[in-house]
Amino acid sequence: FTASTVDIDGRKFNRDKWTNVNPNILNYLNRNLHLKPGHPLCLLRENIISFMYKSFPNHAGNPIFSVYDRLNPIVTTKQNFDSLLIPQDHPSRTPSDCYYLNKDFILRGHTSAHQEELIASGLDSFVVMGDVYRRDEIDASHFPVFHQAEGVRLFAKHQLHDIDKDNIELFEDGKRTPQKQEYHTELTSNKLQHDLKTCLTKLVHHLFGSDVETRWTETFFPFTHPSFELEVKFQDKWLELLGCGVIEQQILYNAGVPDKVGWAFGLGLERIAMRLYEIPDIRLFWSNDSGFLSQFQGATPNQKNHLQGTSVSQYPQCYNDVSFWLPDGGINSSDLYEIVRGVGGDIVEQVRLVDEFVHPKTKKRSQCYRIIYRHMERTLNQAEVGEVHNRITAQLASDLGVTLR
Ligand code: PHE
Repeated sequence: FTASTVDIDGRKFNRDKWTNVNPNILNYLNRNLHLKPGHPLCLLRENIISFMYKSFPNHAGNPIFSVYDRLNPIVTTKQNFDSLLIPQDHPSRTPSDCYYLNKDFILRGHTSAHQEELIASGLDSFVVMGDVYRRDEIDASHFPVFHQAEGVRLFAKHQLHDIDKDNIELFEDGKRTPQKQEYHTELTSNKLQHDLKTCLTKLVHHLFGSDVETRWTETFFPFTHPSFELEVKFQDKWLELLGCGVIEQQILYNAGVPDKVGWAFGLGLERIAMRLYEIPDIRLFWSNDSGFLSQFQGATPNQKNHLQGTSVSQYPQCYNDVSFWLPDGGINSSDLYEIVRGVGGDIVEQVRLVDEFVHPKTKKRSQCYRIIYRHMERTLNQAEVGEVHNRITAQLASDLGVTLR
């Protein structure tokens, strides 16, 4: 029996065929790790805010950016997708990638969901921080909830161009090229890109130190053009930190500010905090263990690498495999991860497909997944893992229609 509504904080959402939230994911709502004093995500939030405040004063010395870090993560699908020009058939809309309350409401998949409403409310420069929700695989660096910081800056003509010196327009009726939108003059687009890249390079140097190596790559987002990703070199690997670009002018038209242009960026807080504070597993952010949090107590927001050398203790892993025949239509791996996470909770560290074959006669497909268990605060014993594992396999059989082998 399932109730006909999903009830959250006194609001009722009617279930429909889109509904795919479960009690496990709804439990993460209102945890607000980024607002919890002493929490590494909170320290990083404070660090980024202080950088934005300090780097962008107005003529009176006050910060031009305002910060929104308590916006409700339950948003409309309009906010999350339509307001950002994300096409109807875009893969990010599929239920296997996000958490729908129903056809019209969703747990936001990115902080960009708030761009249009904040722009429409008259803001020119703002930062949004908060929890975002995506259905994902399970390993040490993926968790269905993480946190993002979104930055938006708009410019009127006189703020971007030196009107006295050059008689230059923001807009033209031109052609879209890889370098610019059809609405923008080349100079407008170049200046926006330059301002955006300067801001983000400074932010990354502020966070990681000025000797960190960075590089820009080109990418695509439906809501910016041109679009870029910024990567930093970390332990000899390039790590993707953020996406950004020149805001699609159509979004500004829709928000009622046709006379301004702007840039936006979105970055993942966990990725940065894991490197900055040497946190080896993304699940540790959700730990209530006093040992974990006490390591950050008293740390000032812009102290970096203060955890160096004090690696968070790692208790041993153990694993169990589950093998089954797939039903005729196959299964969706997000559904599998979801069930494993739903039953196993945070002691599931990783789920990996380790074997797959087709039976020569029956043509049935078999898969074997390895589930790796590790508790963040103590050593697990085989008996308790076995018990959880049995519950997981039973749930897989009943919910996915697989036949256990
Ligand atoms: N919302 C994008 C993401 O989550 C990041 C982004 C934000 C890109 C703003 C461009 C502009 O991946």
